[in-house]
Amino acid sequence: SLDVSSLMKQSGMTALDQGFVNTASTKSKITFIDGANGILRYRGYPIEELAARSTFLEVAYLLIYGELPTKLEYENFAERIRRHTLIHEDLKRFFNALPTHAHPMSVLSSSVSALSTYYEDSLDVHDPEAVELNMIRLLAKIPVLAAYAHKKSIGQAFLYPDNSLEFVENFLKLNFGVLAEPYEVSPVLAKALDRLLILHADHEQNASTSTVRLVGSTEANIYASVSAGISALYGPLHGGANEAVLTMLKQIQESGEGVERFVQRVKNKEDGVRLMGFGHRVYKSYDPRAKLVKESADEVLSDLGVHDPMLEIAMELEQVALNDDYFKERRLYPNVDFYTGIIYKAMGFPTRMFTVLFAIGRLPGWLAHWNEANLDPKNKIGRPQQLYIGETERHYPEDRTYR
Ligand code: ACO
Repeated sequence: SLDVSSLMKQSGMTALDQGFVNTASTKSKITFIDGANGILRYRGYPIEELAARSTFLEVAYLLIYGELPTKLEYENFAERIRRHTLIHEDLKRFFNALPTHAHPMSVLSSSVSALSTYYEDSLDVHDPEAVELNMIRLLAKIPVLAAYAHKKSIGQAFLYPDNSLEFVENFLKLNFGVLAEPYEVSPVLAKALDRLLILHADHEQNASTSTVRLVGSTEANIYASVSAGISALYGPLHGGANEAVLTMLKQIQESGEGVERFVQRVKNKEDGVRLMGFGHRVYKSYDPRAKLVKESADEVLSDLGVHDPMLEIAMELEQVALNDDYFKERRLYPNVDFYTGIIYKAMGFPTRMFTVLFAIGRLPGWLAHWNEANLDPKNKIGRPQQLYIGETERHYPEDRTYR
């Protein structure tokens, strides 16, 4: 890769790269992807090893601090997060102002933005202790806000975090526990969810992470930056694809049109219909995360004794697509979102919560990138150029009398 920007600046040239297909916006030490060979590593560690042997909190530590924690470092980190799980009672009332049918992603992004109003120390983005404290607060509180967004959407009371539990167990209880009733966390669910969160934890300069870095480049506080990241993730071409996949599978099932006919409609680009959960800007081979998610889908469904016809439709879709020239020529393979929804559904999450789960997973990546950029003395405000293609100069008509 060439650092040609200064050369181009001197010569007055501008490169047009719509969608940033070839333009690197930054250097980064956090995540490595080789899209041609389906390789993904966090801080050098292969995703397969982390998914098999690490935990989500350990991966969060690794992404943010650059190294695996010692036992003591891990315990301190987990304890600090536990100590910050409470949400200010006033902020809970904020949820009452929103309609019950509000999408949980909108609720999450706005509540994270509102969270900043409680922590004025977040305005000092150059105080490393304040930055660290606010990263801990976000790791602790976003899962709680996410669970409250879920509870709100089903009209149930919010629970207080149970800090005797581990991170993921606590999250499951906040979502599925009911006030004044005992709740037994399923170890199968907890392990599967932890693994899914690891798989989502970072993916270098994807749309939401680039958004977090761009907003952060203005020295906006970390809550505002993460809230913007959540908004970017919301779209169906990014994190929202996990929800869109389930909607697509349901439509195929309910319409009875069959997988072959649906794939034909995708190939004909009828009404712009796409095979959701397929294709990726970077992976031009099987997404390594999708492989691991598929394994988890089989395990979780059989452990829970769930038979879901959606899994069969998804597997048939995958087979038809992988053997079809349209998808082969364009190198379109399942991405991380193709099978996750089936697992989340088996766990009991409503479809509208799927992208929220992605956001919880991606949070450590957003924080690590925000922090990396913030600590970089060469970091500059992100300000892309454009090629103007509008009208040349024209004049406001002198005889114009109406407005
Ligand atoms: N279904 C059908 N055709 C597709 C799909 C798809 N899912 N994805 C790409 N194509 C086709 C395009 O129509 C285009 O074909 P053409 O050359 O005949 O016009 C070609 O493949 C290239 O597609 P682009 O849109 O240029 O690829 P890009 O890299 O810009 O887009 C994206 C990547 C947005 C992920 C795309 O593959 C897509 O829309 N996928 C479905 C949504 C999805 O699953 N998103 C999640 C991505 S992973 C993540 O964010 C976690």
